[in-house]
Amino acid sequence: MQQLFPDQRQPAPLTLAARTNLWPLTALGYEIWRKRALSLLSGRYFPLEEEFELMRQRVGPVEGRVFLDLGTSTGLYARALLEAGASRVYALDLSPAMLKVAVQKASGHAGLVPLLARAEAIPLPEAAVDGVVVGGSWNEFPYPQEVINEIYRVLKPGGRLWIMFSHHSDSPLQRVLEWVGLRFPALPELMDSLSKRGFEVDGWRERSVGFVTGTKVTTGE
Ligand SMILES: C[S@@+](CC[C@H](N)C(=O)[O-])C[C@H]1O[C@@H](n2cnc3c(N)ncnc32)[C@H](O)[C@@H]1O
Repeated sequence: MQQLFPDQRQPAPLTLAARTNLWPLTALGYEIWRKRALSLLSGRYFPLEEEFELMRQRVGPVEGRVFLDLGTSTGLYARALLEAGASRVYALDLSPAMLKVAVQKASGHAGLVPLLARAEAIPLPEAAVDGVVVGGSWNEFPYPQEVINEIYRVLKPGGRLWIMFSHHSDSPLQRVLEWVGLRFPALPELMDSLSKRGFEVDGWRERSVGFVTGTKVTTGE
């Protein structure tokens, strides 16, 4: 497993929320919650298969292409891409426990490359991937602008981006979760940050679940 912080900066201390992902029990139980997450957040039946299909359509074509699954956890998006014919998926997470489960669950899928790293310092060269997918992890990134810069750097020109996230609401639970380190952006704020960095973006929400897709645009300079 590669463990690289290429710019040699000291990584920032982990938030309490991020630290819970280091526990093996969180990794083992993660997919039980995840299977129900979008139905709970959107208020309608929203199975993983529907989410995967939407994600693949928005970042496609998938076959023969290279992707990065940022904050992969147990590798749900990574497996969905490999099953659809992606040639390689870099599965990046800061949690060794999550990556261990991701590697076990992906056994038999050639092409999964686990990366133990921070989303703020992706150990890949410029223009390395055709697409980047982020499922839920966006709410856990404490420095979103650094992550946006990194996504832009590792995407090829014209490369595609998919983000699924928990949208801002007035719920008191969100305020408590913010206190342990989660962030709940609103759609316009996230879309604005991405378009300022050079993405053409599209976004929508279903109650408390937000989706943003983007294309890396280059000016030809
Ligand atoms: C809510 S889970 C999302 C998992 C997965 N993408 C999905 O769709 O189910 C968030 C994951 O992001 C990881 N994570 C949080 N902050 C991170 C960071 N700054 N860099 C890398 N991984 C991070 C956590 O370890 C955790 O496994």
